[in-house]
Amino acid sequence: MANKIESNPGYPNITNSDDLYARAVKIMHPVTQTLAKGPGQFMKGVAPKYLKRGKNAHVWDVDGNEYIDYNMGIGPISLGYCYDRVDAAIANQLKDGITFSLMSELEVELAELVHSIIPNAESIRISKTGADVCSAAIRIARAFTGRKKVLCCGYHGWHDWYIGITSRDKGIPEEVKDLTNTFEYNNIETVIQSIDADTACVILEPFIFEAPKDNFLQKLQEVCKKNGTLLIFDEMWTGFRIALGGAQEYFKIKPDLAVYSKAFANGMPISLLTGRKDVMQLFEKDVFFFTTFGGEALSLAAAIATISEMKEKNVSAALDKKGAFLKDGYNTIAEELGMASYTKCTGYNCRSMVTFDASAGDPLLLKSFVQQEMIKRGVLWAGFHNMCFTHSEEDLAYTLKAYREVLPLLKEAVRENKVAALLKGEPLETVFRKVSNYNIKPKTVKS
Ligand SMILES: Cc1ncc(COP(=O)(O)O)c(C=O)c1O
Repeated sequence: MANKIESNPGYPNITNSDDLYARAVKIMHPVTQTLAKGPGQFMKGVAPKYLKRGKNAHVWDVDGNEYIDYNMGIGPISLGYCYDRVDAAIANQLKDGITFSLMSELEVELAELVHSIIPNAESIRISKTGADVCSAAIRIARAFTGRKKVLCCGYHGWHDWYIGITSRDKGIPEEVKDLTNTFEYNNIETVIQSIDADTACVILEPFIFEAPKDNFLQKLQEVCKKNGTLLIFDEMWTGFRIALGGAQEYFKIKPDLAVYSKAFANGMPISLLTGRKDVMQLFEKDVFFFTTFGGEALSLAAAIATISEMKEKNVSAALDKKGAFLKDGYNTIAEELGMASYTKCTGYNCRSMVTFDASAGDPLLLKSFVQQEMIKRGVLWAGFHNMCFTHSEEDLAYTLKAYREVLPLLKEAVRENKVAALLKGEPLETVFRKVSNYNIKPKTVKS
């Protein structure tokens, strides 16, 4: 698709976005249903607030401004917006119906496909959201082990068992909060100190931005096995992205259970729980996990089409290549400008993150400044490179060109200590989801 981004003459006109927002704040509290899409992560006064449509890796806001998107729906858009094969599968299914009174044959088709791809998928359950399957995994692990406690590392959705460890824990009984503790990624000692005879499961994102070191995941599996604790991989971000079979294929570790959503249906709402048959069988009678929209057929059709496309086109290799170009390109520019001491791009290539060090000023202000200038140049930027299959070479080259213009501006603003003064809107808010220092509620504080 031709890149028309450069026709954006300056900071975008966001009148329609602001009008919608003014209507929303009167009756919606908060206005967003997904924190990462909300106004706290996009500069008020500069960034658009509402999007209207997308094609491939480009989106258009409600004022008609075009951007290259690097948020990709916060993960689900793995192939690209309005991707023909997936949209055709949805449209075809729509002719036949959406939700039925008996099971859909597509449930079996999707389960067989997943069984053939995900290493631990002896048994498969299908649901709608990431939080659904995370909570189902916790419940079945408790049922299987007859234990209560959970150790976690990463983000696992809005349900009580997890969100009770965070700062937004109001409304959750102490008794529930007491059952979950955290550990530090890449620090097996923090697991060893916390795990005990009542630990039902350890759940973690196999990686977020930091890579596992010193066989951390293998050691974690051994510690869990020795303790009779189930190991659960939360593959919401890693699944179908780092490899078709997710982190378990990439690192060659089969967790007892694993949960997936986001990437595998290119935007449709669907999630998966995969795992050991002897554990999953408890869902037959003892453990309850059912929902009305579980067999909704548009999402099933989209999932089958997306996974098939990912398999045939080796999408994970493409995401790796595109992401490396951007990540390495950013780091080269930062290096050349002598800024590498305070800004870099880290993470796996399929999903990397730009960071700013406090030595150069308030990282949130630095990030706000870069967002403001990237948006001016037609890049919808929130500090992440969530790669999709249709980010074109032109998109990536354009983005690096924008970084080449923006980073010198940041360098000068830092040197003259005027980053805050140059902001044309409200600075960004802190990201709620932690991306490091996960051990916020250790069971045993290391002395
Ligand atoms: C790693 C991880 N687990 C669980 C969830 C929860 O998924 P959902 O928002 O679909 O409930 C998310 C959402 O971002 C996630 O990133």
